[in-house]
Amino acid sequence: MSDTKPWYQEAVFFELNIRAYRDSDGDGNGDFRGAITKLDHIKSLGVDCIWVQPMYPSPLRDDGYDVADYTGIHTDFGTLDDFRAFLDAAHARGLRVIIDVVMNHCSIDHPWFQAARADRNSPYRDYFVWSDTPEKYKEARIIFLDTEPSNWTYDTVAGQYFWHRFYSSQPDLNYDNPAVHEEMFNVLRFWLDMGIDGFRADAVPYLYEREGTNCENLPETHVFLKAVRRLLDAEYPGRVLIAEANQWPEDLLPYFGDGDEFQVCFHFPIMPRLYMALKRGDKTPIIDILNRTPPIPPGTQWMTFLRNHDELTLEMVTPEERQWMWEQYAPELRMRLNLGIRRRLMPLLDDDRRRWLALNALFLSLPGTPILYYGDEIGMGDNIWLEDRHGCRTPMQWSAERHAGFSEAARTYQPVIDQPPYDYRTRNAAAQEADPDSYLNLTRFLIATRQGQPALRAGALAWVETSDAAVLAFRRMTEGAPAVLCLFNLSDSVRPGLALPADMRDLLSREGRVFAAKQQIELAPFAAHWFVEEA
Ligand code: GLC
Repeated sequence: MSDTKPWYQEAVFFELNIRAYRDSDGDGNGDFRGAITKLDHIKSLGVDCIWVQPMYPSPLRDDGYDVADYTGIHTDFGTLDDFRAFLDAAHARGLRVIIDVVMNHCSIDHPWFQAARADRNSPYRDYFVWSDTPEKYKEARIIFLDTEPSNWTYDTVAGQYFWHRFYSSQPDLNYDNPAVHEEMFNVLRFWLDMGIDGFRADAVPYLYEREGTNCENLPETHVFLKAVRRLLDAEYPGRVLIAEANQWPEDLLPYFGDGDEFQVCFHFPIMPRLYMALKRGDKTPIIDILNRTPPIPPGTQWMTFLRNHDELTLEMVTPEERQWMWEQYAPELRMRLNLGIRRRLMPLLDDDRRRWLALNALFLSLPGTPILYYGDEIGMGDNIWLEDRHGCRTPMQWSAERHAGFSEAARTYQPVIDQPPYDYRTRNAAAQEADPDSYLNLTRFLIATRQGQPALRAGALAWVETSDAAVLAFRRMTEGAPAVLCLFNLSDSVRPGLALPADMRDLLSREGRVFAAKQQIELAPFAAHWFVEEA
């Protein structure tokens, strides 16, 4: 059967923080030369595409999402030549590479802002959003609630307030100014000309401001984003544009346009509901949100994730659900940040292997293109004593050597995790390489198994009724390939499962165990099965 699906619809992605991965020059920061030496590890996971987080020159007040130069590389991470070498080395291994593009805002250190604040008559003044009073756009919510009292900050040099949806060190760019569009188009071209495979577009709902609105998802924003897509299609066909828009499914739909805006959007609302369902032993939140998710245009795809570099966001749940999630998953106040939880995957699951397996198997069998966060493949921990979201961005734990084999420096940019059970001396890639049942090898097994089934890669989903709220079952189906029946026990007690319609092989049992038709299956606590009909 000829398969004409675009590559990103069936891929698995990997989120890479260059600073955290491997330091090649002993300055305590990961860099592109170091990451090149670890590409074989990334490739071995079975992923297809790497998302490189911001690597631009930046004062790093928001870990690089505060860009001071859109066409350079931060000296901590290397040079443009190092970036090119990384790109070539990835491509040579059949790995694609996308980068973050931060269009909504830049750093106050960016020369545009420096020129704008210094001179009212500078052409750059109008690159930003100014006001004499902090009274405009009152209906826009504050996103970084724990640190920012307002979306306006008074700049004494400029003698006016400037608008910012995130940190006050990140002024928003003014998309009412066509010159800003041209600047961004040229930034995109710069990287696309170098050969990157696309962008993860940061914080796209907030590009425009309009009085009387919440300044999110405005029609003007979609007009601009469609122009971005036209540029890609016309000049760089085959490259992908992925939206980071933390919104409800119905508000996300316009980001796909009629297939003429983003090809891929992160599905934010499903994520907290996976954790909710697992803790409650109740599938309802998952079913409800997927039933609330509208069909998307041909050629587009959702992107799903369990964790990323940010706090586990609870923006897309009700206030009651948020409170419950905080109580369950962030009992200590230091674990909470803004409207979220700043912990990594494994600590969220209490280092419980059964929960880890169930959640990963569930995540990898749902519709959408999955993305993994570096370190979660070995069950890395976090450090809640670090500020902001840094506790989830500590050095990758490669080995039991000093600094976890991450760096030969005296000091690293953040300390490695050295507390049990996530201590690098016991939890590291080298140790797990040798153990067939390690998280690392299970991750590889799960991804390879998923990617081996066209129905799991991009098939349709149909719920299978079960009378038990803890037992989640669905079928994934696509033409010309076997259907996969996915069955999960979300609770920590033994549950009666289904009677299988035919003799079926469990893809998740590494011995290829076959279950006979019509027999009631008994589901172990947190059991996960992917069944295909036995030929
Ligand atoms: C996105 C990034 C986050 C950053 C914010 C502002 O949400 O994921 O890390 O702080 O944008 O750029």
